[in-house]
Amino acid sequence: MIQIKDLEVSAGEVDILKGVTLDFEPGKNYCLLGKNWSGKSTLSSVLMGHPKYEIIAGSLSINGEDLAEMEPDERSRAGIFLSFQNIPEIKWVKLSEFLRTIFNISAKNNSEDFTELSPFMFKRFIKSHLAELQIEESFLERDLNVWFSGWEKRKIEILQMKLIGPKYIILDEIDSGLDLDAFKTVATMLQSLSSPENSIIIITHYFTILDYINVDKVFVMKAGEVVKEGGKELVEEIKENGFEDM
Ligand SMILES: Nc1ncnc2c1ncn2[C@@H]1O[C@H](COP(=O)(O)OP(=O)(O)O)[C@@H](O)[C@H]1O
Ligand SMILES: [Mg+2]
Repeated sequence: MIQIKDLEVSAGEVDILKGVTLDFEPGKNYCLLGKNWSGKSTLSSVLMGHPKYEIIAGSLSINGEDLAEMEPDERSRAGIFLSFQNIPEIKWVKLSEFLRTIFNISAKNNSEDFTELSPFMFKRFIKSHLAELQIEESFLERDLNVWFSGWEKRKIEILQMKLIGPKYIILDEIDSGLDLDAFKTVATMLQSLSSPENSIIIITHYFTILDYINVDKVFVMKAGEVVKEGGKELVEEIKENGFEDM
């Protein structure tokens, strides 16, 4: 379980989060709604350990362990996965090596006596996953995300999720930059990843993704605070009345 309590966060001189309290339980899906600039991306970056944000008060923990003390890779091994609003391109890192590395690390994390897959074995292993997601095999030889389309980058992210099986999947505005067909496919793939073992946390200011992924709980953010929480009915309320009177 992830617990966030009275969390205040700043970047440089700017106070962004002003006392956020919320929990994410495995097995439940969540939606974090709010207009632009309400602090949604800041919260997701802080959960993943982005160094540009400073925690000034409050706490955040995973299974009782202090998240603030953990490096981003430890957070990843603890089960947190952040799907970026803007997916970075990384030159000189070959896609196949990147995927093989994260797969081996997470398999070892789950079972100590796992034997790492060699480049040859990994390429054999990954084939069916590539086919399932309709990713061309030749992409494995390319640099990570470099010159990939928004749609291809998202599919690579989903492949990462499949390889490491995260417990908390944070999706930050993944609806931006995809056409409707691509978006529907991505949303359907993500819904198929949802299980009683994990928790999908959708961050958005649109609602379309909620037609595909079922959420149990909704939090509404405004100016760095959670101003309302409730069930899925809250989505209908906001669709009708907007965020203004929250
Ligand atoms: N690194 C930063 N430095 C200064 N201000 C920032 C930084 N990151 C975010 N902010 C500010 O914090 C507020 C919340 O931003 P953000 O978390 O991106 O909101 P959202 O994802 O809800 O659109 C905005 O006013 C933004 O300008
Ligand atoms: Mg954002």
